[in-house]
Amino acid sequence: MSNGMSSREIRGLFLEFFRERGHDIVPSAPLIPRDDPTLLFTSAGMVPFKPHYLADEPPIRRAVSIQRCLRLSDLDEVGHTPYHATFFEMLGNFSFGDYFKREAIEWAWEFLTKVLELDPGILWVTVYKDDDAAAEIWRSVIGFPEERIVPLGDKDNFWGPAGDSGACGPCSEIHYDMGPESGCGRPDCKPGCDCDRYFEIWNLVFPQYFQSADGTRKQLKKPGIDTGMGLERLLSVLQGVKSIYDTDLLMPLVTAIGD
Ligand code: SER
Repeated sequence: MSNGMSSREIRGLFLEFFRERGHDIVPSAPLIPRDDPTLLFTSAGMVPFKPHYLADEPPIRRAVSIQRCLRLSDLDEVGHTPYHATFFEMLGNFSFGDYFKREAIEWAWEFLTKVLELDPGILWVTVYKDDDAAAEIWRSVIGFPEERIVPLGDKDNFWGPAGDSGACGPCSEIHYDMGPESGCGRPDCKPGCDCDRYFEIWNLVFPQYFQSADGTRKQLKKPGIDTGMGLERLLSVLQGVKSIYDTDLLMPLVTAIGD
């Protein structure tokens, strides 16, 4: 598909959608996190908000941001897949002890299918294997078809903490189907498969634990929400191109380097 939207338009639509739903628009924080000795770089949209998940009285309850991120854990994938980068912009909405799974899932779905008009038929979702609540919201509230809800384990559907301590929890990811010709061709190919057919566009994390540096976890007093959608990946879908490097955001850089 191609709806012709530019990166600038998508950024504006995202911020406005969540501002209308009570979120404070928070500017991107620096790539070097302030006051966080556990991280060298800002690797996710939630990094500037890490203390809010633990606070009894966070200064804000809802935030929306477009955070510049540097994620070196994906370095080995860059150039081998059409959708990995180390530097990217992450569109995210956040709740600090305020709304939880239902609103996060409903709003993500509304934004993708109503605002951006993505075809629901090419989207799949994954849920954490024990997270019956999230699966039920997808089924009953959204009406998402059971056969495209894929339960996965810790490796795929548990996120965090960013750094060696902080908030973490199960997640539900929304995946885009690039079509059979992009995949391995196995009849049981679906999100979680090692091939390139499905790729994650939006990760909805449900932080409900605090993990200490020694790996132990305790429940957060109030769970929250931490979502992240890669702008470059979303653009590749909306602009109908096969790689994030072909989007209006990165193509000018590729051309300039070629020149
Ligand atoms: N923290 C999650 C991620 O980076 C969702 O924002 O994927």
